[in-house]
Amino acid sequence: MLLKDKDAVQSECFDEEQAPHIPVMLEEVMSFLKPGKGDIIVDTTIGAGGHSREILKCIGSDGLLIGIDKDADILKIARQHLSDIGNPFRLYHADYADLGYILEELKIEKVKGILLDLGVSSYQLDVGERGFSFRKEAPLDMRMDQSRGVTASELLRRLSEKEMIEIFWRYGEERGSRRIAKAIIKERRANRPIETTTQLAKIIEKAVCTSGKYQQRGRIHVATKVFQALRIVVNDELKSLEFFLNHVHGFLEIGSRVVALSFHSLEDRLAKNAFRKGDSSSTLKILTKKPLLPSDTEISENARSRSAKLRAAERI
Ligand SMILES: C[S@@+](CC[C@H](N)C(=O)[O-])C[C@H]1O[C@@H](n2cnc3c(N)ncnc32)[C@H](O)[C@@H]1O
Repeated sequence: MLLKDKDAVQSECFDEEQAPHIPVMLEEVMSFLKPGKGDIIVDTTIGAGGHSREILKCIGSDGLLIGIDKDADILKIARQHLSDIGNPFRLYHADYADLGYILEELKIEKVKGILLDLGVSSYQLDVGERGFSFRKEAPLDMRMDQSRGVTASELLRRLSEKEMIEIFWRYGEERGSRRIAKAIIKERRANRPIETTTQLAKIIEKAVCTSGKYQQRGRIHVATKVFQALRIVVNDELKSLEFFLNHVHGFLEIGSRVVALSFHSLEDRLAKNAFRKGDSSSTLKILTKKPLLPSDTEISENARSRSAKLRAAERI
């Protein structure tokens, strides 16, 4: 049986547009995180280092920025982007769920702030060969960490029709889940494994657009939701997030803050629930009763910000 509506991701998925990575809700992130001189701050999803650049400027030469990313390629970009500032930073190719081990290695007990800017970066979408974008012909990979795990192509080879329906609905709220899963199975039976991004995008398009029931989804491409669902599963994104958020208070000094930027309702729900749990067990105080959204101006200047939701909490 399919999942109920409340379990499905609300379709806030962004469409892919060409843009360099502009840090989302930068001003709001900085005003909650409040990095100061000499602070140790962790950017758990450093990406190209957009937010980290500002953090690094604030912490000065006595502070330390710890930057983590699952994507080894993007860390090279972050390094380039941060080096000219001259303040200390350390970069780690890891899952943020491993922050405990990283702090242990650095002999650091507590930090002054933690940022999570979830999801995929513009770099990953724009570099076609990573397979995150349905607009660019590439092997259907989608792994943020290409040194391990199963690619999206391999996943589509292994999953049953029922499992695919469940995944497309649960993580993408794709109304055409059944038709798309059926079409993928048909391709497999015809001995045509789904190996590239455009191949999958065409199958999705054909499966949903030929049906009279299909309605235009505004600016969102028909393949957006299935690509999002596959990316979440390939990278086991929600498992890391839930684990991390439930332990985050243990890394923070009293009075310091965690800021989470999420881009779809499943991520936001995990942040909301973890902060509520912290609040009721007196380890965290919620600073954002309702999530903050980007301003209209930001959305008009950076389309990728439009589904962002910011939540923040303070260690008590
Ligand atoms: C939206 S981007 C961050 C952009 C960054 N804040 C900036 O302004 O340049 C998200 C990044 O998080 C990374 N990421 C996603 N899940 C992760 C995880 N569990 N552990 C470590 N990095 C992760 C992705 O590889 C991606 O580079």
